[in-house]
Amino acid sequence: MALVELTAVEKVYRLGETRVHALRGVDLAVDTGEFVAVWGPSGSGKTSLLNLIGVIDEPTAGTVRVGGTDVAGLSENEKADLRNRRIGFIFQNFNLVPVLSALENVMLPLQIRGEPAKRVQERALHRLDQVGLAGFVRHRPDKMSGGQRQRVAIARALVTDPQIVIADEPTANLDSETSHRIIELMRRLNDEQGTTFIFSTHDPRLLDQVKRLIRLEDGRVVGEENRTE
Ligand SMILES: Nc1ncnc2c1ncn2[C@@H]1O[C@H](COP(=O)(O)OP(=O)(O)OP(=O)(O)O)[C@@H](O)[C@H]1O
Ligand SMILES: [Mg+2]
Repeated sequence: MALVELTAVEKVYRLGETRVHALRGVDLAVDTGEFVAVWGPSGSGKTSLLNLIGVIDEPTAGTVRVGGTDVAGLSENEKADLRNRRIGFIFQNFNLVPVLSALENVMLPLQIRGEPAKRVQERALHRLDQVGLAGFVRHRPDKMSGGQRQRVAIARALVTDPQIVIADEPTANLDSETSHRIIELMRRLNDEQGTTFIFSTHDPRLLDQVKRLIRLEDGRVVGEENRTE
């Protein structure tokens, strides 16, 4: 059984009178332990696709299964629980809580799980250190650069040791040294813990590291490349 399975997925956004057909019949299966990138031009549907896999949005038609469960059959609470238990999501626009410090942002998913306060703080500090932000834990997002905010979002997605990490252009705002460090961290989690990574990216450094590349164009999967390691 695939970890993530999309069947005949359509996504149509309604903007007043207009309809935008963002995904047009996508079939896709991702297994545990994959390190896969979705790649395609701006507007091709990458974010729309990742939002469906991340159980943040629902398809207009077709089915999305995560861990064998059809997401359409879940209540809002069950979906929130599924996200918190299994999924780490790195948003293209970060979605940090502006009034919270970097540390508080990263602690949040563990606090929601009700883990002991001391352990929550230790794990959050460890992840912030791994993304190179040990010196910025008390900073609020508005006092950080775009690349630093992106790294807070990465630390927050990784702090729960999720089974699936979904990352929408996770290195878009990073300089090459920081980008290298983040890619290494993600590869290590993939190799050592079998964490599944599903990205969208244009970053050649990240594309170079993926094991499987899915090409999206105009809401359709138009090509796929598998790389033997
Ligand atoms: N919330 C929304 N409401 C209406 N239209 C939307 C919405 N989100 C995305 N779209 C439209 O759906 C299409 C696909 O958008 P999407 O954000 O998935 O593309 P993308 O491949 O992630 O692009 P980018 O590389 O610029 O991030 C676009 O035409 C976009 O304008
Ligand atoms: Mg996008």
